[in-house]
Formats: sequence, structure tokens, C-alpha cells
Amino acid sequence: MEHISVLLKETIYVINPKDNGIYVDMTLGAGGHTKYLLEKSAPNGKVIAFDKDSESIENAQKTLKTVYGDRLILVHSDYSDSLNKLHELDISEVDGIIMDIGVSSYQIDTPDRGFSFLHNGTLDMRMDKESQLTAYDIVNVWDEEDIADILKTYGEERFSKRIARKIVSSRPISTTKQLANIVTLAIPKNFYKKIHPATKTFQALRIVVNNELEYLKKGLICAIEMLKDEGVLCVISFHSLEDRIVKNIFREYKHKQVLRLINKKPIYPNEEEIQNNRRARSAKLRCVVKINKEGDAV
Ligand SMILES: C[S@@+](CC[C@H](N)C(=O)[O-])C[C@H]1O[C@@H](n2cnc3c(N)ncnc32)[C@H](O)[C@@H]1O
Repeated sequence: MEHISVLLKETIYVINPKDNGIYVDMTLGAGGHTKYLLEKSAPNGKVIAFDKDSESIENAQKTLKTVYGDRLILVHSDYSDSLNKLHELDISEVDGIIMDIGVSSYQIDTPDRGFSFLHNGTLDMRMDKESQLTAYDIVNVWDEEDIADILKTYGEERFSKRIARKIVSSRPISTTKQLANIVTLAIPKNFYKKIHPATKTFQALRIVVNNELEYLKKGLICAIEMLKDEGVLCVISFHSLEDRIVKNIFREYKHKQVLRLINKKPIYPNEEEIQNNRRARSAKLRCVVKINKEGDAV
């Protein structure tokens, strides 16, 4: 399925790209936000786009790069290292930044990447295929107690212990469908009505495999440091663990008088967007402006 960018108009409206501006997309994905940034900052605005998934970079190389040339710089890197990468490019500060956290539809819909219980694929879940840990390792090697722990912490799964027990007794588990069935059997029948019973387990595994929450904190701090005075940072998150981190870091830097909140409450997609894109239903957008580069930010 084609990736439909979430809260696209809202983020670009807040960032308000200008000709000659320099912008960063921390999460290139299928390039929807990057393309819009390039269009709105024409003819001279630049975008530096990061993604830890080499397939996203390769795809943009073939599509966006051929259209926008030198105005687009693609960087295969985790966004937690974006500040260093920016300095390597001799860029010290930027006008606006987008972070659209999580996985792209392309990643979810490619069965071999192992992100989805709706497709049958290998239990991988790595965004960066060069990293070591896979979901297969956790499910087949980790202790029952450690598995229960991550399901509770990163999936907020109330049946974490039952699921962990079932996983360990069902080894070896090699595919996403196999794991989804095992999780479903471990949970009281019909308990989860609005979501698939394996949703929280898959979320927890993905977060751990990609060390998502640690990198998110580091990425946010890099982003705040990269912004010039009056520069804008927009972050789209998709679940409460991510949103809590974004909210807390924004609050901390507000107290340090480095940031001003543009919206106190998150911006949600409207009904029409949710109708057109189910993935948008859990999205939340928070935006801030940098007010004081000299503050004790980082
Ligand atoms: C939701 S998609 C972005 C979609 C994009 N905004 C668009 O409109 O097409 C998120 C992307 O961020 C990437 N990503 C997630 N965590 C990352 C990290 N820590 N560093 C760099 N890229 C990351 C994923 O590989 C994925 O391609």
C-alpha cells in the first residue's frame, strides 16, 4: 500500500517553508513530507532528509533526488546522530524540522520486514538491516521474565506474563503469523475488541528491536540543538509512550526557556483524514519554536 503522509498540510503550515530556507526531515520514509517541504521552499530551499532504513534512502535516490537534485541531501543514519551528520555537511543550524516517528506503510506492508501480524513474514522488525537484534532473537532466545517485562513496559500489555509463558512454550517461532496466533491464544477470548490481540506485543518487540524510545530522546535533543532562533520543530507520534517523551522533553526545554510551545494540546487529524487513512487515527502533532539559542539547552 502506498504511504499516505499523516498531518501533512498541518505540519507544513506550521513550518511555513521559505525560499532559501534549510529544513530537516528526520524520518524520510516514503518522502511525503520531504517532497512538500521542497515544493514549498522552491526554488532554492534545501532539505536534509534522514532515515535509518537504507531502502527508504535508495527509493528517494531514484524518485525525489532525480527531480530536486542538489536541493535534497539524503543521509542514511539514525536521527540520534543527526547533529553530527549536519556538522559534517557544514550546516550549523536549520529553519524547520519534521519528525514523523514510527514505521512507514512500505515497511509494514513488506512481509519480509516482519513488522505486521497481517502479513506472513520472518520475525525481523529491524528498521536498519545492519543492526544486530531481531524480533526472532527476542522471541526464541530471551528468558520468559525478560519477555514479559518488555511486553508490559513497551506494549503496556496487561497479559504480558501469560503471553511470555505461551511464547516460551511454543518455541521455535519463526513467522509473524505464528507469533500472532500464539499471542491470540494466550489472551482471554474476545478481550481486545478494537485492536488485534497481537498489536501490543508487536509494538513492544518493534520498540526494543529498534531501541526506539532511547533514540527518540536523543533525536529530539539533536533537533532542538539544530534549530536556529525562531526555527520550528514538528513531531508526529503514534502511541502514548512516544507522545509522553515528546511532551516531557518539550516541557523541560520550555522551562529552560529554550522552546515555546505552539500548541499546548496536540493537533489531531480531522475526520476526513482518518477516513482516508486509518493509520492516521492515532497520530498526534506537537510543535515548538526555538526561542533562545544561548540557553543551557544541551
Ligand atoms: C512514518 S515513516 C515517515 C513517513 C514520511 N514522513 C512520509 O511522509 O513518507 C517513519 C520513517 O522513520 C524512519 N525512522 C524511524 N526511527 C528512526 C530513527 N531513529 N532514525 C532514522 N530514521 C528513523 C523509519 O525507517 C521510517 O522510514
